[in-house]
Amino acid sequence: MLTIRSHFFKHFNYTPMLAVQSPGRINLIGEHIDYNHGFVLPAAIDKYIQVAVGKRSDGVIHMVALDLGETIVIPIENLKPHPTQWVNYIIGVVDEVLEKTNYPGDLVQGFDICIQGNIPSGAGLSSSAAVECAVLFALNELYGLQLTKMEMALMAQKAEHQFAGVKCGLMDMFASLHGQKNKAILLDCASLAYTYYPLALNEYSIILFDTQIKHALASSEYNTRRLECEAGIKMIQEKYPSIKTFRDLNIEQVEECLAFNNNSINAKIYQRCKYVVEEMERVQLAVKDLAAGDMEAFGKKMFSTHEGLSKLYEVSCPELDFLVEAVKQNENVIGARMMGGGFGGCTINIIKKSAVDAISKEIAANYLNKYNKPLAVYRTNIEAGTHLLP
Ligand code: GLA
Repeated sequence: MLTIRSHFFKHFNYTPMLAVQSPGRINLIGEHIDYNHGFVLPAAIDKYIQVAVGKRSDGVIHMVALDLGETIVIPIENLKPHPTQWVNYIIGVVDEVLEKTNYPGDLVQGFDICIQGNIPSGAGLSSSAAVECAVLFALNELYGLQLTKMEMALMAQKAEHQFAGVKCGLMDMFASLHGQKNKAILLDCASLAYTYYPLALNEYSIILFDTQIKHALASSEYNTRRLECEAGIKMIQEKYPSIKTFRDLNIEQVEECLAFNNNSINAKIYQRCKYVVEEMERVQLAVKDLAAGDMEAFGKKMFSTHEGLSKLYEVSCPELDFLVEAVKQNENVIGARMMGGGFGGCTINIIKKSAVDAISKEIAANYLNKYNKPLAVYRTNIEAGTHLLP
């Protein structure tokens, strides 16, 4: 297999100035919590995007997506969202650099970029964030922008909002950039402080079951959940004006202000807020389990998270529910839940190493039987975040 550098040379006939690798992520617990100012617990994984870049002098960006066999060339001036989504992940961060940093240097002369990866797209493993972070990290090195990883994460998030149209939180970009081998990262999405936690999985493995479906409504429903949560906070503020975010809120206040409201829109808002407050509480307890090395207790909380995401937050789907239900009674599976934005993508499972093969085989057969779709199974290792390739 050709390296990203060799691909670049083949396409552009000169040696790239540098190459970068940026990983996808898992999230252990704290789902749909990043944009609600809570704590999340992601980690970077051994699936990644690679880019190789070189400078141009004619003011265009020449982009080659190797896996898709597509090439797009556009002027760097006046960047606007593009009809081809992968292009937006690249030009979105370029626009951030140009606009938000008032960058006066030679980035405006354009650049060449080759991109490839092995993160399945639409699986909820943040391939788009990995692209954004790889490109931004590469530009940061190439043009000496001196951005910190956190600044890059925030810029990549804005790119996703403005060019890709998803009002995502910070978790994916943060995790891709900040990942460390065998460590999960507890990120406080309000203060942006973070702490690394060694993931001592011992006799367990993290296994992802990919439904291989992605519902078209994923991004619109995602944006709707965000609005519903904001609406909930506003309603609670009518009674408790000092409450600014979910961090100031407890379950009694949710019950008092939002429950028993039969209007169907408000009933949904109640459910969403109840989930968020419960999940925030769960994350705090789960981190204690992790610190104490009690993976069984941690795993139980993952099942509860799934229940909340499915019944209250309503971002699951029958295939995800099926996969979680299928392992729930299995004594070798200590935790499982849907992961990421939802409406398809993967479940994350903590499974006893010795049982992984048998369980994966059985679940894949049942899934195929029920949905007439193959299940993809990924064994996941926790790896370093975005870095230069030699
Ligand atoms: C997507 C978003 C993240 C986060 C998760 C849900 O991956 O990009 O910001 O909100 O969904 O936890």
